[in-house]
Amino acid sequence: MWQFLTLSLLVSRATALVRPDGVGRVPALGWNSWNAYNCEIDADKILTAANEVVNLGLKSLGYEYINIDDCWSVKSGRDPTTKRIIPDPDKFPNGISGVADQVHALGLKLGIYSSAGLTTCAGYPASLGYEEIDAQSFAEWGVDYLKYDNCGVPTNLTDQYTYCVPDSTDGSYFPNGTCVNLTDAAPANYNWATSTTAKRYTRMRNALLNVNRTILYSLCDWGQADVNDWGNATGNSWRMSGDITPTWSRIAEIANENSFLLNYANFWGYPDPDMLEVGNGNLTLAENRAHFALWAVMKAPLIIGTPLSTIDQSHLTILSNAPLLTFHQDPLIGRPAYPYKWGYNADWTFDPAHPAEYWSGPSSAEALNGTLVVMLNSQETTQTRTAFWKEVPELKDLYRRGGGFRVRDAWTGNDLGCVRDKYSVRLGAHDVGVLVVGEVC
Ligand SMILES: *[C@@H]1O[C@H](CO)[C@@H](O)[C@H](O)[C@H]1NC(C)=O
Ligand SMILES: *[C@@H]1O[C@H](CO)[C@@H](O)[C@H](O)[C@H]1NC(C)=O
Ligand SMILES: *[C@@H]1O[C@H](CO)[C@@H](O)[C@H](O)[C@H]1NC(C)=O
Ligand SMILES: *[C@@H]1O[C@H](CO)[C@@H](O)[C@H](O)[C@H]1NC(C)=O
Ligand SMILES: *[C@@H]1O[C@H](CO)[C@@H](O)[C@H](O)[C@H]1NC(C)=O
Ligand SMILES: *[C@@H]1O[C@H](CO)[C@@H](O)[C@H](O)[C@H]1NC(C)=O
Ligand SMILES: *[C@@H]1O[C@H](CO)[C@@H](O)[C@H](O)[C@H]1NC(C)=O
Repeated sequence: MWQFLTLSLLVSRATALVRPDGVGRVPALGWNSWNAYNCEIDADKILTAANEVVNLGLKSLGYEYINIDDCWSVKSGRDPTTKRIIPDPDKFPNGISGVADQVHALGLKLGIYSSAGLTTCAGYPASLGYEEIDAQSFAEWGVDYLKYDNCGVPTNLTDQYTYCVPDSTDGSYFPNGTCVNLTDAAPANYNWATSTTAKRYTRMRNALLNVNRTILYSLCDWGQADVNDWGNATGNSWRMSGDITPTWSRIAEIANENSFLLNYANFWGYPDPDMLEVGNGNLTLAENRAHFALWAVMKAPLIIGTPLSTIDQSHLTILSNAPLLTFHQDPLIGRPAYPYKWGYNADWTFDPAHPAEYWSGPSSAEALNGTLVVMLNSQETTQTRTAFWKEVPELKDLYRRGGGFRVRDAWTGNDLGCVRDKYSVRLGAHDVGVLVVGEVC
């Protein structure tokens, strides 16, 4: 069964991309232009985002990367002599380095985008075959982060086999997560680290390691070629699914998929369920809360994707939640929270509409000094969800019948006092309760 296989295949993985100054050790925090503006970007929008990250207090909470996504270069091609990608002079009159200087002056870092193909997803020049030249440009410009997409792959460089990502966008799986119609599935002993996809991503990793600048490497191969197996050796994070959209159905679907991959998340390497949609589309406040809480406790990179100059206070409050950010950035514990009970479904059910509802994870004394407990209502109507201390893996050994723990509500900050045996919460559709559970009382 797909989900059990994924959890049990804890084969030893090659050492990860350990970088100077702790870059990439804990999951990234930042902002990216794509979900906010798509292709409609320029230096003003990037610098506005950077200034807002400072002004809105997000920098002081740890958000640091300001990432330029697709569409930043001259579309018609590289410089014919140097073969370098040319920043679009209309969008970026002072080049990428001009933006980098201003972003760095704010105490923030700059990210850029390319693809492991001949063209980016929007049809701009990409880095396949030019990895060293492009890594050198990025380093000289002062770039600190590279998101590396998977578009523009020439047919002679596609993989020998197809890997099944259990993602509705590719239509290759049953609702229970098993694959269908894979006529070219790999043999059981196939090593995906030898696939053409892994090689395309490894070429850029090597190029980045050869330049005189630390550039966080964010792989965006949409979960293909079993990237969970070689992602830790190749990048600091790797996309495990197709693209997110600002809809609850897609957020729930990706959360369900990623919930089965969390043994792959730890210091230096994290599966990436895609950038945040908080503040976008028609998500309810409850859905925004649940999206952010799930991404934070899964230790996903938290990359804001909404225009910050017009963000609502209610969305900003979600993105600024201190307990969730503290858990996410724990300096001593790298593992994320795991589901401990599915709730709506039987445990271990793969259900794109109803991800696991009960999650917990430990947080060191340097961080929350307690256990984070998350309760999700994946249903369409208001429901009660109850965390029983005897069921929570981090608490059950400390729990005695009738015993309690000191509990804080992570959304309100309220001290709930000494809570005995269990804690129940009424949750609207797709809302989430988050508790910080401390010492025995
Ligand atoms: C998943 O669903 C398919 C189609 O209904 C079925 O053939 C298969 O046995 C199921 N697999 C599991 C593990 O339940
Ligand atoms: C693949 O095709 C591209 C053109 O589409 C060509 O430039 C490249 O050399 C080919 N690579 C290999 C390994 O055949
Ligand atoms: C699998 O193949 C059958 C027969 O070709 C087709 O009817 C069905 O739609 C395919 N299913 C998926 C999910 O692609
Ligand atoms: C690498 O960069 C650092 C600071 O950015 C600089 O001091 C050093 O001289 C550079 N080394 C080489 C070999 O270029
Ligand atoms: C990834 O590699 C790093 C460094 O070797 C290691 O600390 C971490 O545990 C690895 N992640 C997983 C999930 O094995
Ligand atoms: C939001 O709802 C409006 C009105 O129902 C609809 O037109 C729009 O497409 C929705 N936006 C998204 C991103 O789903
Ligand atoms: C962490 O919590 C324990 C009790 O659970 C307490 O003894 C200890 O002092 C706390 N540490 C910090 C740094 O707050």
